[in-house]
Amino acid sequence: MGIFYFCKMKIIKLEKINSTNLYAQELLNKKQISETTLIYTNSQIKGKGMGENSWYSEDYKNLIFSLLVFNKFKAIDHFKISIIVSLSIFEYLNLKGVSAKIKWPNDIYLKSKKIAGILIENSIMGDFISNSIIGIGLNLNQEKFPKNLTNAISLKNETNIEYNIEEETFLLSNIIIKNFEKYKLKSFEFLRDLYLKNLYKFQEKCLFQSKFRKFEGIIKGIDNFGYLLIELNGNIEKFYFKEIEFID
Ligand code: BTN
Repeated sequence: MGIFYFCKMKIIKLEKINSTNLYAQELLNKKQISETTLIYTNSQIKGKGMGENSWYSEDYKNLIFSLLVFNKFKAIDHFKISIIVSLSIFEYLNLKGVSAKIKWPNDIYLKSKKIAGILIENSIMGDFISNSIIGIGLNLNQEKFPKNLTNAISLKNETNIEYNIEEETFLLSNIIIKNFEKYKLKSFEFLRDLYLKNLYKFQEKCLFQSKFRKFEGIIKGIDNFGYLLIELNGNIEKFYFKEIEFID
């Protein structure tokens, strides 16, 4: 393990770990940390995905990190964090010359494949979020994916460039920290409009699968809590994460 500081950020490098999000949570539980901290690794054995999902990443190939931040967002504003992080990955990929989209709620897509996933775990104290663990997995140099991950793509698949993992980890984390400063006082409506501008299939007719039915609808927006608003037979219905899936 290596610990050092860079751009006012504490940095913990781990050769191998079960999950960087879990590691960050353990540090918080032991009260060993109270400053912006980046935890990254070359090898994650039990990566956590959204919901019950896991996150697979080939060793020494991709960005695997958790950023622990102490921004005092109101608990009701939790989706602002998701938006800021999604926009940051979008900005990072733009810098690398590729045009991504945000797939609701916070997957990052290149064309119709997933290049990055975000897992945000917030601790709530009263009405406020006392800290957030922002876990990011971004496929960087991996060229082949297991058969069950037909939907995955990496930056190298797109650009043919081999990237330096450490440099890219620092670059993306700095963009996220900079954007928290830039956007934390902005209204939800301001952030929502930026999010919608870059949202995958926004205002397009798509096929969805909910628990009970398959239906066609048009994505019209999101509400303050991050629910997806879909126009369906002339009415607007809202869905939370895991209540529906896109059928592409
Ligand atoms: C998803 O799309 O399901 C979210 C994936 C998030 C994966 C990252 S990898 C680094 C961090 N540590 C984890 O265990 N998960 C997140």
